[in-house]
Amino acid sequence: MNLEALLADRLAGAFAAVAGHEVDPAVRRSPHADFASGAALQLGRDLGRSPRDLAAAVAERADLAGLAVAEVAGPGFINLTIDDALIAGEMVRPPELPRAAKPQTVVIDYSAPNVAKEMQVHHLRSTVIGDAVARLMVQLGHDVRRANHLGDWGTPFGMLVEHLLDGGELSMDDLTGFYQAARARFDSDDDFKRRARLRVVALQGGDEETLATWRRLVEVSERHFMDVYERLGVTLTEADFVGESFYNDDLHRVVEELDAKGLLRVSDGALCAFPEGFTGRDGEPVPLIVRKSDGGFGYAATDLAAVRHRVGVLGADRLLYVVGAPQRTHFQMVFAVARAAGWLPDDMPAEHVAFGSILGADGKMLKSRSGETVRLSELLDEAVRRAARLTGGPAREKERSFPSLTSGDASAAARAVGVGAIKYADLSSDRRSDYIFDWDRMLAITGNTGPYLQMAHARTRSILAKAGDARPGPVVLTEPRERALALELLAFEPTLELVADTLEMHRLAGYLFGLASAFSAFFEACPVLRADPAVRESRLSLCQRTAETLRQGLDLLGIGTPERL
Ligand code: ARG
Repeated sequence: MNLEALLADRLAGAFAAVAGHEVDPAVRRSPHADFASGAALQLGRDLGRSPRDLAAAVAERADLAGLAVAEVAGPGFINLTIDDALIAGEMVRPPELPRAAKPQTVVIDYSAPNVAKEMQVHHLRSTVIGDAVARLMVQLGHDVRRANHLGDWGTPFGMLVEHLLDGGELSMDDLTGFYQAARARFDSDDDFKRRARLRVVALQGGDEETLATWRRLVEVSERHFMDVYERLGVTLTEADFVGESFYNDDLHRVVEELDAKGLLRVSDGALCAFPEGFTGRDGEPVPLIVRKSDGGFGYAATDLAAVRHRVGVLGADRLLYVVGAPQRTHFQMVFAVARAAGWLPDDMPAEHVAFGSILGADGKMLKSRSGETVRLSELLDEAVRRAARLTGGPAREKERSFPSLTSGDASAAARAVGVGAIKYADLSSDRRSDYIFDWDRMLAITGNTGPYLQMAHARTRSILAKAGDARPGPVVLTEPRERALALELLAFEPTLELVADTLEMHRLAGYLFGLASAFSAFFEACPVLRADPAVRESRLSLCQRTAETLRQGLDLLGIGTPERL
């Protein structure tokens, strides 16, 4: 139920009648009532009439029966207080999640690590944010296609294949070691360098032995990525790997079609597109290189082929790219060229869902203690280790209010809490900003953190478990904190609508934190199990609905909700 929308709907008619034209009632949550409309203030200025008189006329005319009571306040606000019976009636139903009016085929490009390289922290952001977006789109009823645009092609593969053929050691646990060894030889051994270059030609020419070796590289890397995905609890599967190499056969067509449309020009020996509106600092148009001067195709050509495929073959209605902010211009140019080529219709949305960097405590790019880039798998191990101390150890703070761990649950809980803490830290900050990776903060059991929300959820579950034969029953709102919690619960649906529009997952995180806080406040003031039967049943319903909402909300973020911690 979207109270804001219902109120706006009922007020709109009254505003139109009073003003003589359409007016957005601008209904918002208010500290002075449940909701308020401030639209009469501006309308008064526009019409040169008293805002209070206008507000009174609107309040008088609006049919709010069964929904709310309106009252004029201050200089011309309409304060709106929701009918208790309406709120109470909603509480005994499961949370309502919005569904898209028109389901679409949505292609989401995310994760996209590179073969023969360990996943790194920017891949973590893409994976975590992309997966949350995918979960949300599925929930809304869309047909979601996950596109894991694996970096599995290009000149470095000459060197990598050559190194593997020479007996280089490849294990899924040390892709970086393999890459660095190949690189070191390439930089120091001229004969190896020469062979590596020939190997690129053989690879592009479709030589069988070369391709077989390249496939081994890809397979071992994919196994490593799948391992990380499983530990992260993301919904990507093997079937979602659609690497850059997938588009090889299309690249010549891409050039042909662009050329036929007159969109290509030779510049420094390379075939380039110059989409309108992209100029460098010197005012010169910036090229998007489609075919390099050596005849090879690069990152941009593959992305153009991918747009063409996703729309033309997969039948996409909407394209999303969850990729770091530095690639903004790249995507804008790719979209512009794809539109000019007619592959991306003008009215079809293609969006770069951009994100910032993860920083270390020093405010610079996150690095390991030895100064190298941080490996994602090590980060996950560390998170679970730290979370085990939190969930298993003698955390006195926690023992007061939570049932202790049974040993079987312990490791599962530590995994959910550790991994959840990392994911939540990422998803709870505005994706466009950088954020500082801070173990203590993300694992704190108070504040806007994963563990805090998981504990709030476990607390609701434990109350329900302890209720024994007592069942959730009809809701009667008497205490202010019951009412505040109930109103917060009803804000789930509009929050999801907002998140669906903006793809700003931190708004969902912020909502869940507010809900958990409202629940804490309620629980402090309103005993549940010790209350008289009717009150107990009513409060159990509030607990139940809170449990469900926290579970569904965290699930959309890809965060687990163990029954106990
Ligand atoms: N593999 C790239 C990287 O590691 C990301 C690819 C993003 N997706 C795309 N369609 N270009 O930075």
